[in-house]
Amino acid sequence: MYKNQFIMLLLAVFLVQGCSQKEDFSFVFMTDIHVEEGRNAITGFNQAIARVNELDPDFVITGGDLIMDALGQTFNRADSLYNIYDSLSQKIEAPVYNTIGNHEVFGIYEKGGVLPDNPFYGKEMFKNRVHKETYYSFDFQNWHFMVLDVIGIKPEERYFGYVDPAQIDWIKSDLAKLDKSTPIVISAHIPFVNIMTSATEKSADEGIIVTNGLEVLKLFSDYNLKLVLQGHMHTLEEIIIKDIHFITCGAVSGHWWLGDHQGFEEGFGLFKVSGDDFTWQYIDYGWEVPKQ
Ligand SMILES: [Fe+2]
Repeated sequence: MYKNQFIMLLLAVFLVQGCSQKEDFSFVFMTDIHVEEGRNAITGFNQAIARVNELDPDFVITGGDLIMDALGQTFNRADSLYNIYDSLSQKIEAPVYNTIGNHEVFGIYEKGGVLPDNPFYGKEMFKNRVHKETYYSFDFQNWHFMVLDVIGIKPEERYFGYVDPAQIDWIKSDLAKLDKSTPIVISAHIPFVNIMTSATEKSADEGIIVTNGLEVLKLFSDYNLKLVLQGHMHTLEEIIIKDIHFITCGAVSGHWWLGDHQGFEEGFGLFKVSGDDFTWQYIDYGWEVPKQ
């Protein structure tokens, strides 16, 4: 082989390898932010955002409970909380993918005096203010991210952990488009799996677990589900079952901005992805309740 041909061959091999190799990336999962005008929550969320921007992730996923509460509030109160979240979250420099939590659901508790014919009732406020769908997916590099809506609603009564039949059909069709080796991440507010209920005196009920979670997880059994990101509990835990990591990722607000929650500090998860693997750490961004 002539020298020039050999150099061209080397160059071609280099280019092919370079194109097929995916770059490492990172993302943040921040859950249970519960912004409101009181409790120094705005200062705290701003501090968390500043730390996120320093870390410079490729994108951010939120895990729900973005606002303090819309379940039992008047329209004006719920609307003002959504306004605060909207204006603060725009300071996050990376793209943000929001997950719905139970506290984004508007008006289902009687005490707010909201009637079901209100155009923003239930999840309509989230759809109108945050994201037009409560469940959706996106891709980054060779990974697939599914943002789920695990909030079931019993109107004028309460919420519970549930994935409805229409969403189960959507999950099936979304999965059908994937190569079975594609690494998948789920974001869901209420946990599919958690152990804190066994480790504490708080008993498991339909408000703190996805009641049909097993049915949903079975849909992924032939796929490469790597990671299930969870919120709601304001506690930090990682459970690994058959190579699937279920991570309940603390809370940006700790104990609703009143300090740590059961010893867990205010924070968020930083995930670093390389090839088909990931590592992660919980970032305590340093916020403390200001002394009076
Ligand atoms: Fe929460």
